[in-house]
Amino acid sequence: MSQKHFPAIRRKLLLWYDSGHRDLPWRRTADPYAIWVAETMLQQTQVTTVVPYYQRFLKRFPTIEALARAPLRQVLALWSGLGYYRRAENLRKNARELMLNYQGRLPNDYDTLLSLPGIGDYTAGALMSIAFAQPYPAVDGNARRALCRIFRLSSQAELRELATRLVPKTRPAAFNQAVMELGARLCVPKTQRCPECPVASHC
Ligand code: ADE
Repeated sequence: MSQKHFPAIRRKLLLWYDSGHRDLPWRRTADPYAIWVAETMLQQTQVTTVVPYYQRFLKRFPTIEALARAPLRQVLALWSGLGYYRRAENLRKNARELMLNYQGRLPNDYDTLLSLPGIGDYTAGALMSIAFAQPYPAVDGNARRALCRIFRLSSQAELRELATRLVPKTRPAAFNQAVMELGARLCVPKTQRCPECPVASHC
């Protein structure tokens, strides 16, 4: 597909997202720390499972400082049931590193984020776009399925290039979450709901 369709596709996806998306707790905050916690939980765990864990975790550790000061066993206790406990260990380790060397704040820089343990390409892109409003792609499994179908992509390299060119400079957070939402709700693995899809005419 030629790039001349990109503006229409972006506009339609954003309109669709604005017309009604899931009210998820991490979409109600602008705090980069809270978004980091959410995106870390969402790396391997489904949205519906994450919601109560996210709420309990932020209540107990509302700031990077609180997390950095917490004993590891308390952090792990709140993670208990989510699995992939290395995620919790890395969160706490990074919180301590941020307190020591980054004035207790998440760095607003893709490469610095990527250098932290547990922050890979996906999470760095999610933080840059959702927490810092920068036009970086953030493609989770649902978004990948939707983009591969719409644009008939067959390789990871194609997907990466497409996602990088498609993400808009304005509202990258809403756009990335719109594509994830499309994959989660309409462009699902088996019975896709194409009649409801805002970009069916481009697909
Ligand atoms: N999966 C990973 N990040 C997400 C987000 N911000 N919203 C919905 N699903 C997600």
